[in-house]
Amino acid sequence: MLKKAIAVVTSGGDSPGMNAAARAVVRTAIYEGVDVYGIHNGYSGMVHDDIEKLTTRSVSDLIQRGGTFLGTARSKSFMTPEGRKTAFENLRKRGIEGLVIIGGDGSLTGGSLLSKETGMPIVGLPGTIDNDVWGMDYTIGCDTACNTIVDAINKLRDTASAHRRIILVEVMGRHSGWLAMMSGIAGGAEYILVPEVAYDLEEISCELKEMYEAGKRYSIIVVAEGAGSAVEIGKIIREKTEIDTRVSVLGHIQRGGSPTVEDRIKASMLGEKAALAIISGVSDVVYSFNEGQVVGVNLFEAVNNTKTLDPELVRLSRVLA
Ligand code: F6P
Repeated sequence: MLKKAIAVVTSGGDSPGMNAAARAVVRTAIYEGVDVYGIHNGYSGMVHDDIEKLTTRSVSDLIQRGGTFLGTARSKSFMTPEGRKTAFENLRKRGIEGLVIIGGDGSLTGGSLLSKETGMPIVGLPGTIDNDVWGMDYTIGCDTACNTIVDAINKLRDTASAHRRIILVEVMGRHSGWLAMMSGIAGGAEYILVPEVAYDLEEISCELKEMYEAGKRYSIIVVAEGAGSAVEIGKIIREKTEIDTRVSVLGHIQRGGSPTVEDRIKASMLGEKAALAIISGVSDVVYSFNEGQVVGVNLFEAVNNTKTLDPELVRLSRVLA
């Protein structure tokens, strides 16, 4: 039976394109004659009853904006069964019969617990710049974040070359090297250090010294935050090579900004897919793209498996360095 009311929530770290996805969920639901509620500030708003009925106008002037108009948070109370029960009751008292969650690995894990404990139907969309959700090669926001990083690398290369420096660029990715690997390859980095692959600073320093002695003017080293502190790694490389070395930590600038066309279109397509699915009774599925096709991945499989870094990309990064 078709649902009469659904809700949408954005959770965890924001990512550019979350707005486009939420907008598509809202407009699709309204187009289908279904009531749609927005939950403010992630799971925290679900627990604290910060829930609002949305109209098509609630989501105007949004597709081009980074961040999330709904707000997001990492909620401690939702991590407890009691918190999730309260959240469920707040949805149920409004007649909400299905929930679209837009968020990363941790947020989808929270959604899987809510589904298991309360039976609330859940459809997920992967909203994270980290591109680390199992079963898919696309997450909403990664393309925009990669473009932000590549833009920074282009600028850093100019000044590195002018001064014959080594520049380390620290990017996000606490547990995953996807963002570093993709942006490092696209930015032509000499080295890409990721949490998944061991590296040897002695060896890297020797190679850098040889390259500079042979006339090289600059080197860019992309460091995923999970691979170690770029500041500390930079100190070691400077000591070992005696080459002028600088470090740029890009930080949260990577999470903001207007989404790319790819993120806007894919997020819109996935938002429509998620809304239609939840309205028609689908549950426990995460929708995304894999190899260019829309895929539906079982929610529990998505959160219980770890996406590994593509060894082909690791190999390519070495060949092209
Ligand atoms: O969105 C995921 C992520 O970008 C991680 O790569 C990063 O470590 C984390 O968010 C930091 O987010 P916050 O500062 O919001 O906790």
